[in-house]
Amino acid sequence: MDKYIINGGNYLNGSIKISGAKNAAVAILPAVLLCDETCRIENIPCISDVNLIINILKSIGSSIKVINKNTLEINCKNVGSYTLSSAQTSGMRASSYFIGALLGRFNRARVAPPGGCDFGVRPIDQHIKGFEALGARVIYDNAMVDAKATELVGSSIYLDKVSVGATINIMLAAVKAKGLTIIENAAKEPHVVDLATFLNSMGADIMGAGTNVIKIRGVDYLHSSTYSIIPDQIEAGTYMAAVAAAGGNVVIENVIPKHLESIISKLTEAGVTIEEYEESVRVVSDKKLVATNLLTMPHPGFPTDMQPQMTTLLALADGVSIVNEGVWDNRFRYINQLILMGADITVDGKTAIVKGVKHFNSAPVCATDLRAGAALVIAALATEGVSEISNIHYIERGYEDIIEKLKNVGADIKRIYVPDPNKVDIAL
Ligand code: UD1
Repeated sequence: MDKYIINGGNYLNGSIKISGAKNAAVAILPAVLLCDETCRIENIPCISDVNLIINILKSIGSSIKVINKNTLEINCKNVGSYTLSSAQTSGMRASSYFIGALLGRFNRARVAPPGGCDFGVRPIDQHIKGFEALGARVIYDNAMVDAKATELVGSSIYLDKVSVGATINIMLAAVKAKGLTIIENAAKEPHVVDLATFLNSMGADIMGAGTNVIKIRGVDYLHSSTYSIIPDQIEAGTYMAAVAAAGGNVVIENVIPKHLESIISKLTEAGVTIEEYEESVRVVSDKKLVATNLLTMPHPGFPTDMQPQMTTLLALADGVSIVNEGVWDNRFRYINQLILMGADITVDGKTAIVKGVKHFNSAPVCATDLRAGAALVIAALATEGVSEISNIHYIERGYEDIIEKLKNVGADIKRIYVPDPNKVDIAL
């Protein structure tokens, strides 16, 4: 029920340090299940999606030592269960990675279907196609995905659709399978590469991650590793879009500029100045934005997870932009919230026609998912007056310390406690 209150209109100046990548962390943490020795994972973002993964690991017997808020030592030697109920998995999409990781460990996984942001239908048929190709029998039993194999044996798998989740899940199941697995038409996202690098640091034999053909030669044993997760490309892009929309001069620190190429290109086309350094980028904006068209695609295309943030700033640009969503069927639900703030956007299926307006009006708005929530924060930062954003639990699934990071660059933002009207607070 808590809300963000943003008194917008301030220029943003200073620096923001980017945290570890959410989508890498939620794959790397389940991957530790494939190893019986202690792994030390650093640069883990402190966000609620990661907490859900950690709780799942603990619930099945992993021992987890907190070194600091971003570093954990995890030992999965005593994990004895391959079953996860919907109470454990329904909070997030990435809980599906436990199917691949548990199957890889036990040759068996009974996992309730994943939850996560609602962008329309989110099938896992390509994940299952991969598990079956490795020799598992996969059935739906009592609303659980039940995958079972006598032995996992490497195989060639062509993904009918480029899928981050299927690529990661098949990699997890195949890393200790017998022989060679080849994933063709694999996803190339930085977090796919980060998972492969982590698994290789434990002794796996994975080649080609980051291209569309990944070759995994199964190994018998994975050993302990100390590993630092890559910076979050989408968190970086979100703050870059915030500076672009609100105006200002901010250095975004701890990034891999190569991962930001498509975002940098599109922001530059929209009139924003970006300087690239080795591990940071400087974003300079005078708020004079110009329209540009956008099509989201798998990496290295423009990421769908930056579409709401980019659409928001295009709604303040001079001219008409056409935004095409090329990954998800229904990722424009947040547009109605932007319209409440005065945006002029028409949605037709997977296309949004964005007619730039001079400014938004402050308003109470409601996050409809994680990146939609981030987009509303950007809209409010760019808007004179006080805006209220509710449903912020979505935003906190993916952004570590968002309030502090934005306050440090001059934003007037606070989080307020709102009592739940359905709960009676009894003062004793
Ligand atoms: C991941 C990201 C999510 C991002 C998405 C696309 C994580 C935890 N989440 O989600 O933030 O928006 O990549 O970059 O990393 N599809 C199928 N069958 C399948 C799997 C996917 O048809 O078995 C389709 C989906 O419906 C979608 C497309 O493939 O249209 C891409 O989905 P996928 O890459 O799998 O997304 P996720 O891994 O769920």
